[in-house]
Amino acid sequence: MNSMTRLLGWIDDRFPLTSNWKTHLSEYYAPKNFNFWYFFGSLALLVLVIQIVSGIFLTMNYKPDANLAFASVEYIMRDVHWGWLIRYVHSTGASMFFVVVYLHMFRGLIYGSYRKPRELVWIFGMLIYLALMAEAFMGYLLPWGQMSYWGAQVIINLFTAIPFVGPDISEWIRGDFVISDATLNRFFAFHVIAVPLVLLGLVVAHIIALHEVGSNNPDGIEIKKNKDPVTHIPLDGIPFHPYYTVKDIVGVVVFLMVFSAILFFAPDMNGFFLEANNFIPADSLKTPPHIAPVWYFTPFYAILRAVPPLFGSQFPGVVVMGVAVVILFFLPWLDRAPVKSIRYRGPIFKVALALFVISFFGLGYLGVQPVTPTYTLFSRIFSVIYLAFFILMPWYTKIDKSKPEPKRVTG
Ligand code: HEM
Repeated sequence: MNSMTRLLGWIDDRFPLTSNWKTHLSEYYAPKNFNFWYFFGSLALLVLVIQIVSGIFLTMNYKPDANLAFASVEYIMRDVHWGWLIRYVHSTGASMFFVVVYLHMFRGLIYGSYRKPRELVWIFGMLIYLALMAEAFMGYLLPWGQMSYWGAQVIINLFTAIPFVGPDISEWIRGDFVISDATLNRFFAFHVIAVPLVLLGLVVAHIIALHEVGSNNPDGIEIKKNKDPVTHIPLDGIPFHPYYTVKDIVGVVVFLMVFSAILFFAPDMNGFFLEANNFIPADSLKTPPHIAPVWYFTPFYAILRAVPPLFGSQFPGVVVMGVAVVILFFLPWLDRAPVKSIRYRGPIFKVALALFVISFFGLGYLGVQPVTPTYTLFSRIFSVIYLAFFILMPWYTKIDKSKPEPKRVTG
């Protein structure tokens, strides 16, 4: 026995290192037919690490003080060694996180990955998504630019629309009657420690839940139903390590190429990743003419604006916007189709999904545009389609004509 084996044995007697390695990697049997859609889970993990590491370095020079914050970010950009790189990695990473997570969620949608037995994988995923939205929203206040200030003003004011308790809730969130140094300090605390801790915990729970039931695949059939009678290994499964650890590296390389191209050639992505107005220091006396959130929130912002106010109150819009997010939690129980994957679903689901995707992009576009009667009309049509996709799902997935699923996974 060489010294490495002895060391491993010593550790294994005290900590389940080898058994965990086996359970989650070398003897975790994943379906052999994963395609590129399966890259986005590991890419989300990668971006999470990128955000945490770049965030730690930003925190070394950032000042969470309303009088110093804006200048400290400029200082990072101009004077801190490699500071511009650290900041652009973090700001590009924020948008790329949402790109990756939206594609990851879409994969779940097309292959029915949220269906039994993966309901908890999906619910943990949705909680991650909510935490990610909170993380992005609070991080955006930190540079203390015009959009940081006025974006937060618009969103926090939405809470004021809640009947009776609204104004108190807004004041409680801000810690003041207006957005101020107190707000900046608490958002800093939440952004750098509280929410990341929650995120990390949820990601661990997400993966534990997934490994308990096993991964879905592009055919949407359960590989655990066909096991080798002797070894009890799924016939269509291959060990995650080395097969998918190596395959995921391909995804990482392609992703880093795209990431670097944006980072080095267009870090503001023409106003989509960093808004021009946020290069102006926050001014509580000067409202920017056009306030719009960053792209990843715009579909929901468009839904908010699409709903007409009731007796001058924005409350109905706030409710509908909340429903548009929360309804995703119920997806496992809304879908009644006998098959999971889009490959074997009928035409109604395919048309519904296409309309949903068009509406989501349409809303995303309309959310950054100024309000005009035509745009409002389109926002309303798209909002109705968005909600109908979910609300009518129990009905149309039941009457849809699905094709028979194969017994074993296909290519
Ligand atoms: C920080 C964010 C997230 C990370 C790091 C993460 C990580 C992962 C990983 C590593 C996997 C296994 C690899 C794969 O199937 O791609 C996975 C699977 C999955 N994730 Fe996530 N995830 C995140 C967010 C989400 C969100 C927001 C949702 C949905 C609301 C979600 C839903 C799912 C589902 C349904 C699966 C199982 C897919 C299947 O087996 O077909 N995840 N996730």
